[in-house]
Amino acid sequence: MKITVIGLGYLGATHAVAMAELGHEVIGIEPDDKKRSALESGKLPFFEPGLDKALVDVIEKGRITFKADHDENSKNAELHFICVGTPQKQGSNAADTKYLFAAIESLAPYLSEDAVVVGKSTVPVGTAAELKKALSEKTDFDPKLAWNPEFLREGTALEDSLRPDRIVIGTEDSFAEAKIREVYKPITDAEETPVLITDIPTAELVKAAANSFLATKISFINAMAEIAEVSGADTVKLAEAIGMDDRIGKLFLRNGIGFGGGCLPKDIRGLMARAEELGVGHAVGFLEEVDQINLRRRKRVVELAQAELGELKNKKIAILGATFKPDSDDLRDSPALDIALELERLGAIVFVHDPVAVPHLKENQKTLNADENLETVLEDAELTILGTEWRQYKNLDPSKLSVANKTIIDGRNVLDRNAWEAAGWKMIALGRG
Ligand code: UGA
Repeated sequence: MKITVIGLGYLGATHAVAMAELGHEVIGIEPDDKKRSALESGKLPFFEPGLDKALVDVIEKGRITFKADHDENSKNAELHFICVGTPQKQGSNAADTKYLFAAIESLAPYLSEDAVVVGKSTVPVGTAAELKKALSEKTDFDPKLAWNPEFLREGTALEDSLRPDRIVIGTEDSFAEAKIREVYKPITDAEETPVLITDIPTAELVKAAANSFLATKISFINAMAEIAEVSGADTVKLAEAIGMDDRIGKLFLRNGIGFGGGCLPKDIRGLMARAEELGVGHAVGFLEEVDQINLRRRKRVVELAQAELGELKNKKIAILGATFKPDSDDLRDSPALDIALELERLGAIVFVHDPVAVPHLKENQKTLNADENLETVLEDAELTILGTEWRQYKNLDPSKLSVANKTIIDGRNVLDRNAWEAAGWKMIALGRG
């Protein structure tokens, strides 16, 4: 099928490549010259394992082209996927939907009557209806608009796109449903992926609800960690025990410095804001606490550092990992980076190591001493903090590390306590009283 993918950020670039991998003819629309020319030359503007190779592959096969804006070619597309960002508004919890309206506006002149506009961005429930209204004002026919949320995770984005747990299609139009089913047919045939047809508001809400549930699970276990820390209980064992109940499930119960990134924090706040606008803010009032528990975990690490070192001024602290999760170079709302900046603000000399984010840190966080050399980061450190659970940190041999003071805070509960203690380290693990 011929399709356009509008907005080539994390979601759009992955979706565009995934659709081309499935054999579709994809036009990627991205006005940002830097991003677009990187993609054109087969380079990803972000780090995502496996996606770079797939991009080169679909370019070589001639299945994908990149444009700054629509042109006559867009008129032949059967589906237009809208994948633009919906960041948190400055000074508010609400999501900013202006890029969606801009996308609709530039698409309208090139939209044919039998094409379907498919929203994939995470939006406040009710946005699709407003977009449809805006689109109707710019076309002389009744435009078809459906919602098809995306559940991909950074670090496993392509795999999640090609082998999703489910495909949710929000539409009450059988033509639109058939077209969207057709585009995903290679996935649903091969993987027997369930397809769930819903109305549009449900499809919009599914995504916000899923991310809010995941965030709640993480904050629940981090709330238990707060209790464990003052009662001598072990949150890791506790999570294992409750997770063995299939009704609870073991995933997303890893306690530590909490969730970050461009999605979970923004999406719980966006849902709170939208519920408030709809007059039912109380229904998700608990999400405010989910947010606060999450932010308290970052403070806890700073307090532990102060308890260990006393006055932080001029004390060297080594931070292992800056990104919000491993296998990603995303620093947005990263708990590890937030902790590094707060320690620095309190006067510590902070050295940061990260397998992929050092160039970005050097450019954008000049005061932090970001370095690709782990020895340099650890040398003379009076405290070490593991902030992101990159594989190479889990595999470190603690007996071979040279620091001034062998104390480590494991912010992700991934290090082998016995091995580190046997090598003479004092290990402080969150939630393990
Ligand atoms: C999240 C969702 O998991 C995806 O399904 C969704 O499509 C995506 O947001 C989105 O809205 O686009 P992502 O932000 O890539 O994906 O990251 P997650 O794997 O969900 O992790 C989020 C944060 O939670 C990370 O900082 C991670 O370290 C933390 N986390 C995760 C924990 O602290 N404990 C856990 O047990 C799991």
